[in-house]
Amino acid sequence: MCGIVGYVGRREAATILLDGLKRLEYRGYDSAGICTLDGSGLQLRKCVGRVDALIAAVRARPLQGTLGISHTRWATHGLPSDANAHPHLDQSGRLVIVHNGIIENYADLRRQLVESGHQFQSQTDTEVLAHLIGRHLDEQVPRGQRPTAEQVVAAVHQATREAEGTYAIALLHADLPDCLVGARRGSPLVLGLGRGENFLASDVSPILPHTRRVIYLHDGDIVLLRSDSYRLWAGDQPVERPVDTVQWSAEEAELGGFPHYMLKEIHEQPGRVADELRRVLRSEEGTVEFDSLAPHLDELASMRRFILVACGTSWHAALAGEYLIENLAGLPVEVECASEMRYRQRPFEEGTLVIAISQSGETADTLAATRLARQQKVRTLALVNVVGSTLAREADWTLYMRAGPEIGVASTKAFTMQLLQLTLLALWLGRRRGTLSRSEGRRIARALKAIPSRMQRILAAESRIVRLAKKYYRFTDFLYMGRQYNFPIALEGALKLKEISYIHAEGYPSAEMKHGPIALISPEFPSVFVIPRDALYEKNLSNLEEIKARNGPIIAIATAGDREIRKKVDDVIYIPPTLDCLQPLLTVLPLQLFAYHVALLRGCDVDKPRNLAKSVTVE
Ligand code: F6R
Repeated sequence: MCGIVGYVGRREAATILLDGLKRLEYRGYDSAGICTLDGSGLQLRKCVGRVDALIAAVRARPLQGTLGISHTRWATHGLPSDANAHPHLDQSGRLVIVHNGIIENYADLRRQLVESGHQFQSQTDTEVLAHLIGRHLDEQVPRGQRPTAEQVVAAVHQATREAEGTYAIALLHADLPDCLVGARRGSPLVLGLGRGENFLASDVSPILPHTRRVIYLHDGDIVLLRSDSYRLWAGDQPVERPVDTVQWSAEEAELGGFPHYMLKEIHEQPGRVADELRRVLRSEEGTVEFDSLAPHLDELASMRRFILVACGTSWHAALAGEYLIENLAGLPVEVECASEMRYRQRPFEEGTLVIAISQSGETADTLAATRLARQQKVRTLALVNVVGSTLAREADWTLYMRAGPEIGVASTKAFTMQLLQLTLLALWLGRRRGTLSRSEGRRIARALKAIPSRMQRILAAESRIVRLAKKYYRFTDFLYMGRQYNFPIALEGALKLKEISYIHAEGYPSAEMKHGPIALISPEFPSVFVIPRDALYEKNLSNLEEIKARNGPIIAIATAGDREIRKKVDDVIYIPPTLDCLQPLLTVLPLQLFAYHVALLRGCDVDKPRNLAKSVTVE
């Protein structure tokens, strides 16, 4: 949700910043801007539209300088427009900032600033923050004198104490041609440490082509960067933070020959699952080795109740996790939508573990729900993908999904890795608690090991899904249905379709359909039925018949070898057989591919769907 890149070094800043913005564009893409500093002062370009529009603007009027900041925006306050695009200047026109987050009291601050003579060019909260920092700087620097870098840092500290809400900022001052200042609270900001150059960015992807050494800033941190040094403060106190080495490579965050990140990430799923299974699964014993949780395993095993909390696709994984933990480990599970849980007055019982699931580890609602749980002295476990993310740092324990960088805005491989980790957790709990015997554990472990090759078989039949997409892409409404383990998959299939193709789609538990949605069924309203050969196959079949009786077209996701189903539906996508509890790892794949190809046929931008951003760091 908005991307920031800053650079200070010896190379041309504009080239590095624009390349960095392309890599961060998935965080927001309604406008973009850049500012560099050269001998003649601040050089600013910004425009509405994608980063490519900014690149064209910079090509038309090139930028010099070895120091700069840049931004790609997902609008919160103020429509996407040239004026509202970042960077924004302060009243003096000599201080410039880019910002990710929301300044909640910006209207009050703006009114006070206007009363003292400030004039604004945009409707953004960011410009208010720039003016506020500028005002605090003016208070410290005698008229006619140049500010020092330390005075700018102090002004940032004072202004951010007055500003309520969230921010990650990068800032330049025209009088400080060798410094970049950054600060964060609630929105991510990473410092990249190069040789003779340093970077600031919302996440590691723009930094990785240059260095893997990073520092993840903490809430309240302010950083002063020069080309060969940096200083950090927590508020106004100097502080040291550990330097991490990122394991992801720059290539992993590139297209690698695929036309879209989403397609690349769909195809990465078998490999990611196989790697993780090789790492943690002990199939002979039917057990799992969670290295990151090793010091806490006894406490984990003693938990009596689980609350899984997440948003969007991660919430769908949580719903599947509910079935998995209940069925394999015999423990009660509740699933909460983070945006709801954060405002509930729910009592937390002792012996409860809250598992917060988030690809980015930065989702504002999931973070808030986790903080609520921590305030209530309940243990928290973060199941996250992005290493060093806020959630990973704030939760008591962390389990990484190991999906690798996910760039496509529509989540695919992170979802399957969430499913996998929840399956492994349920298996571990089941074996440890004795609800699964050794032979049952072994059976699940063996079936798990076969999942990657089964995923490959589904992906190898992509051309069949392309044919179906061609047949169905003009429909305007879809119903997705499934039961038990496949109910969350129905929700996820519907979400994938609606978010990237803008087709209306709803997910339902199959048997719920007759309590209302069946009224929608007509020859113009197709249903996607997830109906593998599982424990509820026959019952699911009756639900399917009810749709057929109302002339609704049906696409079935069914188990290979199920000939019966072919007679009852219009189209079938077959998936290889597996255990009921592992079905979601397979059934979601054709739904991801279907959504992708339908969106493509409708001419949609699959990697950057309208109105969305990858990491939702605002409420
Ligand atoms: C949908 C999608 C979103 C995210 C949601 C939570 O494809 O990606 O629904 O799942 O915004 O994001 P994370 O998992 O980063 O907390």
